[in-house]
Amino acid sequence: MHTNQSLSSYWMPFSSNQDFKAHPRLLTKAEGHYYQSEDGRKIYDSFSGLWTSGLGHCHPKIVEAVQAQVAELDYAMAFQMGHPKAFDLANRISSMAPDGFEYTFFCNSGSEAADSALKIALAYHHANGDATRTRFVGRERGYHGTNFGGISVGGMVANRKVFSPCLLPGVDHLPHTLNLSENAFSKGLPKSGAHLADELERICALHDPSNIAAVIIEPAPGSTGVLPPPQGYLKRLRDICDRHGILLIFDEVINAFGRIGASFAAERFDVTPDIITTAKGITNGVIPMGAVIVTDRIYNSIVQGPPHLVEFFHGYTYSGHPVAAAAALATLDVYEDEGSFDQARSLEGVFEEAIHSVANHPNVIDVRNVGLMGAIELAPHTDGQGIHGLEAHKRCYWDEDLVIRNGGDILQFAPFLNSKPDDIYRTFEKVKRVLESLG
Ligand SMILES: Cc1ncc(COP(=O)(O)O)c(C=O)c1O
Repeated sequence: MHTNQSLSSYWMPFSSNQDFKAHPRLLTKAEGHYYQSEDGRKIYDSFSGLWTSGLGHCHPKIVEAVQAQVAELDYAMAFQMGHPKAFDLANRISSMAPDGFEYTFFCNSGSEAADSALKIALAYHHANGDATRTRFVGRERGYHGTNFGGISVGGMVANRKVFSPCLLPGVDHLPHTLNLSENAFSKGLPKSGAHLADELERICALHDPSNIAAVIIEPAPGSTGVLPPPQGYLKRLRDICDRHGILLIFDEVINAFGRIGASFAAERFDVTPDIITTAKGITNGVIPMGAVIVTDRIYNSIVQGPPHLVEFFHGYTYSGHPVAAAAALATLDVYEDEGSFDQARSLEGVFEEAIHSVANHPNVIDVRNVGLMGAIELAPHTDGQGIHGLEAHKRCYWDEDLVIRNGGDILQFAPFLNSKPDDIYRTFEKVKRVLESLG
């Protein structure tokens, strides 16, 4: 077993380092729907990795593809050279994406996908002679990763606070759509709130649309605590963008690949953006990869000019990495072979019923769900925000052999696309016991 001392050098991401190192929770193996803890316990994963691993852990077909690829072509120069699997993967993604999304730019994470998408939006307007369109509109409680572009358009206060002087200029934020006074304990999409999209008109009136490049939002935000979009909201936002020539970017890092019962949220919500970003589920979390998927109109505007010149000065050493591409191709095969997105959709009713079964607990101030994304919001402890949430996470792990995610006092859930209904019900029985024990 690791001692506190041997854990000291690793600076953990988005973690309470001091608390963790005092009470370590180390996972040493995974298979299917379970992790194994360092002390040998089988731990049920209620969060599909970190929204990543909808097919379960160590899926044999993905493992096999990665093992074969790393032995065959470990790396191929990514600039001015290529390898077949990156091209195959881009074609495959186009076949799953909404009509007209024929082109994919690869990166290595959701954060890189967000920043790449913002740059593509600027390049598009620049190429079309609309170089004044440089402003972005994000949304409060949006999360687009941790790079400077992403935190600038994002609306997670803790991620912005320390970096505030260095954020991108020229960014406005739409109001978030969470409204506990009208929509608490909504099942699925809340009824009230479509009008909040109209705030974009106010921002257009303030700056003039000729200065606005793009709006970026998560169709169904996840990381700030699962905020299902109000009914009609996304369509209304799309209409306003269309009226003013503003690009609409859907950040589908969490939403895509089955999490809301379809390849993309765009399909499920029947609203088509201009750019889609994704990551996580593209490789089932096995190897890092991100992607920006764009329409023909955007690609063809930017990729032009003398053929010997680089059209878009952007990219990463590991864009379209062969091992990531092999993992992604295998993942997309499994989604198709196993009918994972339909499977996920058929579990939505079970998940909704199970998660809402905790609604009556006195500490619970909201329960919300969309697709296979859900949250239980707890009232904060009198000593401060986040105490209840972290304690619930730890008690689930130690007392109930269950991994859940807590973002502050919001417990978040992302069941596997191929979950067993009994496991979903059992998850919330465990959560209920932990809530009882918290008092
Ligand atoms: C919507 C969204 N965008 C971007 C990111 C950042 O992804 P990454 O952590 O891979 O950089 C996340 C991560 O959760 C996300 O949910």
